Amino acid sequence: MGEENNPDNAMESVEEKVVNIYSEIMSKYKRKPIRNVNKMMEILKTEYKLLVDKKLVTLVVAAFLAGRPVLFEGPPGTGKTEIGEAILTLWAGKPALVIPCSENYDEYRVIGDFHPLMAFKYGFNEKSFIPRPLLAALILDAGVLVDEIRRSNEEFQNMLLDIIDKRRIIVPELRKIFYAKGEGFQVIFTSNPEDYAQSELSDAFLRRVVRIPFNYPPPEVEIEIIRLRYDVDVELEPKILEGMVQVVNLLRQKAAYKPGPADTVLWSRIAGRLASLRGKQQVTVSEVVDAATIVLYKRVGEEEIVDEALEKVFGLHP
Ligand SMILES: Nc1ncnc2c1ncn2[C@@H]1O[C@H](COP(=O)(O)OP(=O)(O)OP(=O)(O)O)[C@@H](O)[C@H]1O
Ligand SMILES: [Mg+2]
Repeated sequence: MGEENNPDNAMESVEEKVVNIYSEIMSKYKRKPIRNVNKMMEILKTEYKLLVDKKLVTLVVAAFLAGRPVLFEGPPGTGKTEIGEAILTLWAGKPALVIPCSENYDEYRVIGDFHPLMAFKYGFNEKSFIPRPLLAALILDAGVLVDEIRRSNEEFQNMLLDIIDKRRIIVPELRKIFYAKGEGFQVIFTSNPEDYAQSELSDAFLRRVVRIPFNYPPPEVEIEIIRLRYDVDVELEPKILEGMVQVVNLLRQKAAYKPGPADTVLWSRIAGRLASLRGKQQVTVSEVVDAATIVLYKRVGEEEIVDEALEKVFGLHP
């Protein structure tokens, strides 16, 4: 094999590597950036099946225009991750990259690291460098969803903020600085302060992000969310739907495991499928209650609280 045809000798730049690695993901989404609030809301609803408050979308757009990252903070299952990813994707006109945080995450996991054997053979250079999602997003001008930021350590959080502020990433081993090329590179953090094993966010962190609180939706909105997501060809009567939302709201007050809209949506979809499997045209209380036992029984010892709520609202328990 000729020297230049040997893949071992091919020198691919970090930029080329990123484009190659992500080309498949990027090619699946072909749309120009959308930065108009009404248009974003419309696409979020019709294509992403996400019902998002207009104020929320407007606040995110304002933060991006001001060059600040956003922090979505609130209880589980309220749509923080999905809404964040969808907004970033629409804004950049490219799929957002997701970084799920964990305690031991460091710059090597999100910026890039060196393949040990390649580095041994070729040294610490672009050839042995493996780009990771944060650097890839900066190069591709895509958005980044940093999921569950409270699971990471303070050093990691400061490192991210420094990159977001300066819109550049330095890789000292390569003696190289990578710069953001456009406005598509934006960051949304998510966090659930009530979850256990969460670290505090420092004042320095909070000062540099725009915090948008999430909460459980009012009943009429939650009903609309369920309708939007319900995908079974079996009728789900408004009365039953209202009852389900009442049950989850009771559990949010009384139980340690508080179901989010994500649970309510799943509950309705399973009840619908149970009814379909039983050959019914309509979801009845019996399917709702049976589905509750697999969707709402989460913590051992809390089954009774769920049963009580079902009994109170539907007059029936498992
Ligand atoms: N506003 C909404 N519109 C449509 N679906 C929603 C909405 N809010 C929640 N959902 C439901 O919840 C799911 C998304 O939950 P997601 O995982 O994004 O929540 P989260 O707030 O990130 O939760 P966690 O804190 O557990 O990570 C959707 O798949 C849908 O079933
Ligand atoms: Mg989430």
